[in-house]
Formats: sequence, C-alpha cells, structure tokens
Amino acid sequence: MTQRPSVSRAHNGGAAEAPAAPDTATRLITFAQVRENPRARAFVRMADAALEQIGYTEHGERHVGLVARIAFNVLKRLGHPERSCELAAIAGYLHDAGNAVNRDHHAQSGAVMALQLLSDMGMSDEEILIVMGAIGNHHENDGEPVSVVAAALIMADKSDVHRTRVRNPEMIKFDVHDRVNYAVEKSFLNVDEDQKLITLELTIDTAISQVMEYFEIFMTRMMASRKAAIFLGCHFHLTVNGNRLT
Ligand SMILES: [Fe+2]
Ligand SMILES: [Fe+2]
Repeated sequence: MTQRPSVSRAHNGGAAEAPAAPDTATRLITFAQVRENPRARAFVRMADAALEQIGYTEHGERHVGLVARIAFNVLKRLGHPERSCELAAIAGYLHDAGNAVNRDHHAQSGAVMALQLLSDMGMSDEEILIVMGAIGNHHENDGEPVSVVAAALIMADKSDVHRTRVRNPEMIKFDVHDRVNYAVEKSFLNVDEDQKLITLELTIDTAISQVMEYFEIFMTRMMASRKAAIFLGCHFHLTVNGNRLT
C-alpha cells in the first residue's frame, strides 16, 4: 500500500487556493450560474433519484445546497479569498452528482461529470481541477483534503446529519443510518476564526438513537472532518447535547 503524504505538510501547498484570474479565453463562473444551469440541476435530481431507489437518505437540492453554503462560509470565516469560497460552493453543489452513475466511486465519477459541465460553461482548467479535486476527494473512505476547497467540502458534507434527510421515518426501526439521522434535531458547524476551532454541534434525541450509535456510524466521517480541519489550520471538536465528545 502506498504511503499518503501527511496532511499538515500539504497545508501550504501550491494548489490550496484559487489561482489568479483566468486567461481571457475562459470565464469566471459563479455559484449562481452553476445552480441555475439546467444540466447541473439534472445531475442533482437524477443522483438523488438513483439513491432513493437504493434506500439512501436525501441527497438532493436540500443537501447539496446546504453543503454549498456551509463550504462557502467555512472558507469565508477563515479569511480565504472570495474566489476560493465560490469554488467551494460550486464543488458543494456538484459533489454528489456521481451517484447518478453509481454509488461506488461516486466522488470520482462526479468529478468527471463536473469537468464536462464546467468546461462547457467556460471555466478555466485550473479552477476546474480545484473543483474536481474537491469533489473526487469528498468521500470519507477514499478522500483526502488536497486543497482548502476540498477541506471545506469535506467538513460541510460530513456536517449534514439531520432528521429531514430521512425519506421514510417508518424505517428508523430497521436502518441504523436512518435512525441516527432521524435522531439529530439540530446540527450546526460552528467556525471560531479567532480560536481556530471548528465545532460540529449536534442536538440528538437520545430516545431515538443513543450517542454510541452515532459514533459507530459516523466515526470515519468525524475522522475525515478532523483531518480537513487540521488542513485548514484549525482544531475540530464534536459536541452532542452540549457535551464535548472529541
Ligand atoms: Fe457523497
Ligand atoms: Fe454529500
């Protein structure tokens, strides 16, 4: 197995921020333009429809819109350039599109879908590759925070645990993912730029799911969040019902 480079050393890597203004042959594509693009909307809709067929939680406009907003805000609060924030939002909107192809390797297939969409829209190759790298690395099983945009996307995606993602509350008796999601009444990713601390604050109804169950299901996600926070020069904490767990 090949050794992956350490996260902390990659922190100041050259590809970490958005490049300077693209050349004249390309355009600055905004998050609003992507969100209004009919093909991008179809990607999101079809990906969510495919996941519904195989019993996954909601991954549609609500999820990707929220992830886009949180990813933007994480970088904004930490003082990153506006364009990096915008690229994080674009990556957030498109990050789960690959589920329309297959759940397995959806991060990587989604990155290739974003390549086609964004190059057709006129985005520069350098910016497209930042977005692709973020999308292709957002999944906790095989992703790494390769840039600040990727790190923000990982943090935003892993923080969306919520009751509203459960499609069929009847299933919470049987499916632990649904039960854990359904138990979360409130989730908030708090960025304290002065303390350099990012905290995922969860309010869980323990009558539905015990905190231990949350840990069993989301341990790998929390580890991915911690790695991403470190890449952003921050610590990561998790609080459940006001108690700090990590
Ligand atoms: Fe995903
Ligand atoms: Fe996601």
